[in-house]
This record gives sequence, structure tokens and C-alpha cells, in this order.
Amino acid sequence: MSEPELDIQNLKISFSTPRGKLTAVNGISFQLNQGEALALVGESGCGKTVSALSILRLLPEPPAEISSGKILFSGQNLLSLNAKTLQDLRGRSIAMVFQDPMTSLNPVLTIGEQMAETLLRHTTMTRQEALQKSADLLSRVDLPSPKEKLKQYPHQLSGGMRQRVMIAMALTCSPRILIADEPTTALDVLIQAQILELLESLKKETGMSMLIITHDLGVVAEIAQRVLIMYAGEIVESGPAHALLDNPLHPYTRGLIASVPKLGALKKKGARLEEIPGTVPSLDQRPSGCAFHPRCAWAIEKCKTQKPQLREAEGERQWSCHLEPGSL
Ligand SMILES: Nc1ncnc2c1ncn2[C@@H]1O[C@H](COP(=O)(O)OP(=O)(O)O)[C@@H](O)[C@H]1O
Ligand SMILES: [Mg+2]
Repeated sequence: MSEPELDIQNLKISFSTPRGKLTAVNGISFQLNQGEALALVGESGCGKTVSALSILRLLPEPPAEISSGKILFSGQNLLSLNAKTLQDLRGRSIAMVFQDPMTSLNPVLTIGEQMAETLLRHTTMTRQEALQKSADLLSRVDLPSPKEKLKQYPHQLSGGMRQRVMIAMALTCSPRILIADEPTTALDVLIQAQILELLESLKKETGMSMLIITHDLGVVAEIAQRVLIMYAGEIVESGPAHALLDNPLHPYTRGLIASVPKLGALKKKGARLEEIPGTVPSLDQRPSGCAFHPRCAWAIEKCKTQKPQLREAEGERQWSCHLEPGSL
């Protein structure tokens, strides 16, 4: 197998807060392979966005601090690059699509002005060429009448169209990696499906690798080859998407699957859908032992005091739970 596009090793991120230094991401490791769609999944507050932002050093430091780890991209540790090199890399090699296009698009600039700006910054194109290329990019994400769209302002477009614009902007410099943070969360179901289809076809067309962040396992089933399940700042399970959805090893993964109507019904005919009780603990209230134990229907005494280590299972899978496989 060729070298991974991105190799994240033992990444630890904390925040300085009035309540002291709190750990948001507690030593996660994973690889993004060439041309794959990898999903990072977990409920709100698990640390997905913080992890993604740290890859491009987009977290405000301070209050954030990357206290340990490596983020290797093409053999370079992104955590030790200077600001200028990082700036070149952002957008050009690794691009990001954010959750809410309304907050990431500039409301007072036309779509054309914003798109051209990126091209003018990273290439030697003239303004005219940049606008032409912007129109091409908009047609690649299937936006009708791209030339007209260039003259419009973000508020004149629908949510789905704005998300397409964001994706087109991310594609500007043909990145090798696209990080999409909840790219479909703000959209209705039909548009969600269209955006996922678009991402999938762009991946095929360009060969880029994608890290897709979502709280929705339905999205995973649609698009990802491999999945990382994150809970309270740690990766608690990982593996190929089909195997993981068919046979979750971690109680948290099982809970997530059960709470997606489509998947839950598929996996457990006749059984009623379960929700995971409670919510993700805040950073200053992370439980001892296994952080999931207060919400876990299978928790045993050991789970309250001992933190489970990641274990390997057959088929390139990993999970961290004290229970024996097959006990769920
Ligand atoms: N600037 C910050 N200061 C303090 N805590 C933060 C900050 N940004 C995020 N957090 C906390 O880090 C945790 C993970 O947040 P986030 O990565 O946004 O979760 P997710 O994307 O999985 O919903 C949350 O508990 C959140 O409150
Ligand atoms: Mg988030």
C-alpha cells in the first residue's frame, strides 16, 4: 500500500479556559489514504471540528494548544511549518468546506469576486481568466447559469447552492485533500443526497482524498469507505464502513446506528429504535474510566475506573471497549 496522504499521530489539543486547561482531543491517531473517503463521526461536542481545524492550523492558538502529536502530509509535519508555508498549503493542497456556508462566504462580495480572489492569490491568472475559471468550477458542481451566479451575492442563493459554491471554491486549486465539516447538515434531505453525490463524483474525477465529518451515519453509508467513530475527544472505533455498520464493536457505534432510522431498521428488523441516553459530557466533566460508561447500557464495574485501550480486530478494525467482541 502506498504512503497515506495524511498521517495523524497521537494528536492532543487543549483549550485554556477560565476553568483551567481542558483537553478537547485526547491523543487521536489515524491515516487518510490516497483516494479514499474517510468519515469522522460522532455526536456534537465530540471534537470533530477541533480535530479538522487543527490539520490546517486554523484553531486560534491560544486559547487552543496542540500539546502533542504529528500531522504528516507528504512527509512534512504540518505542526512544525511556518505561517507562510502553511498559508501556501491551505486551499492549494488541502482544502476545507465548512459546516455553515453563510458564515464562511463574505456577504458583501459577489460569488465571482470571492472565487476569483482565491485564484488570483494562488495562481498567475489575470482577473478575466480567474472569472472564467470560476464559472467553469461552478458548472463542475452542477450550478445552473454559472456566469450569472458569479454576479450574485451569497444571500441571493439557496442553502444548497451556497454549499455548492463552497465546494467549488474548495476545488479551485485542485487540492489533494478535501476536508468537509458537516457539508450537508444545514440542508434538507433531498439536497443532502445531491451534495453527497456531487462529492462522490468529484472524488472519482479528481482522485482526491476526502475527510468527511458528520454526526450522521446515514451520510457514512452513502459515501465513506472507512469510518472513525469519535467520542469525547477520542477515537473509539474504526474500520471499513460496511463492516462497521453491519457489525459495530463499540456500544457507542451501535447506539449511533440504532438512532438513524434508515440504518436502525435495516439492521434490527422489528426492534424499536433506541436513542443513546444523555449527552456528550463537556470538557470539564469527562468521566473516569471509559468516557462513555455513564451512557452505556453494557457498562460493567471496570468501565468506571479503567480506560479501555484501542484493540485490533480482524479486517483492519479497531475499537476500545472492555467488553468481549460479540457481547453487544
Ligand atoms: N475555543 C474553545 N474554547 C473552549 N472549548 C472549546 C473551544 N472550541 C471548542 N471547544 C470545545 O471542544 C469540544 C469539541 O468541540 P468540536 O470539535 O466543535 O465538536 P464537534 O465538531 O464534534 O461537534 C466541545 O466540548 C467544545 O465546547
Ligand atoms: Mg463540529
